[in-house]
Amino acid sequence: MDVIICKDAAEAGRYAAAKIAMVAKEVGNRFVLGVATGSSPLRTYQALADLVDSGKLDISEGSAFALDEYVGLPKGHPESYAEVIRKTVTEPLHLKPENVHVPDGFAKDLKQAALDYDAAIKAIGGVDVQILGVGSNGHIGFNEPTSSLASRTRIKTLTPQTREDNARFFDSLEQVPHHCLTQGLGTIMEARNVVLVADGEHKAEAIAAVVEGPITSMFPGSVLQMHQHATIIVDEAAASKLKLADYYRDMLEHLPEWQRVKVA
Ligand code: GLP
Repeated sequence: MDVIICKDAAEAGRYAAAKIAMVAKEVGNRFVLGVATGSSPLRTYQALADLVDSGKLDISEGSAFALDEYVGLPKGHPESYAEVIRKTVTEPLHLKPENVHVPDGFAKDLKQAALDYDAAIKAIGGVDVQILGVGSNGHIGFNEPTSSLASRTRIKTLTPQTREDNARFFDSLEQVPHHCLTQGLGTIMEARNVVLVADGEHKAEAIAAVVEGPITSMFPGSVLQMHQHATIIVDEAAASKLKLADYYRDMLEHLPEWQRVKVA
């Protein structure tokens, strides 16, 4: 696991974008990006859009797969993740809408929709870089505590904590759905690279648990300790509870040239 501590959230976004762009260039036109919702990756999307707009990155032939979707929000609902991804990812990164996939939370047969989603990821050859945020209770995607570490895309019930955390996007708590479709932890772990971004004091405990805590389904993000290419990119505030912060800083300073990510 690589832990990158940046001075602020904007620098963290630029670092994450540079890392993603490096992989995208290696992969070429068949690049598959795994995308997350929430506020954490917004600066990464902005920094990626800047690279695209300045002609330094072109992923217009690539594909994207979202992590999750609420169940029951009608198509076009502004808080459906399909809409959020369209506005924050598809349009600014100039992806073709038909190449951007979000689980179908409005499907009649949700079980089948979940199976189909995993099959579509497999059929395309898997995700090259999965972007992640982390929930205050340690969830990644919508894999709530006690999710199987081997789980696949499926229906989950949101915890009261997650519904409260996400109520800020809705007019009231009652409007936040109770269920979702989410890629499983096993699905996420198959991405060839994962990049988790977090900023702010309120994420410090979650980051400490993801990076330095025990691997446990009680804190689903901790499963990333088992991933061979996981990069955790945080600002100083989100890094404030890391015991080995000085080691991570020292490691970054002494990174061999060939491992360096060139931040635009
Ligand atoms: C939601 C999403 C997660 C995201 C989490 C944290 O629940 N399903 O993918 O990581 O929120 O959101 P934020 O980045 O806004 O703190």
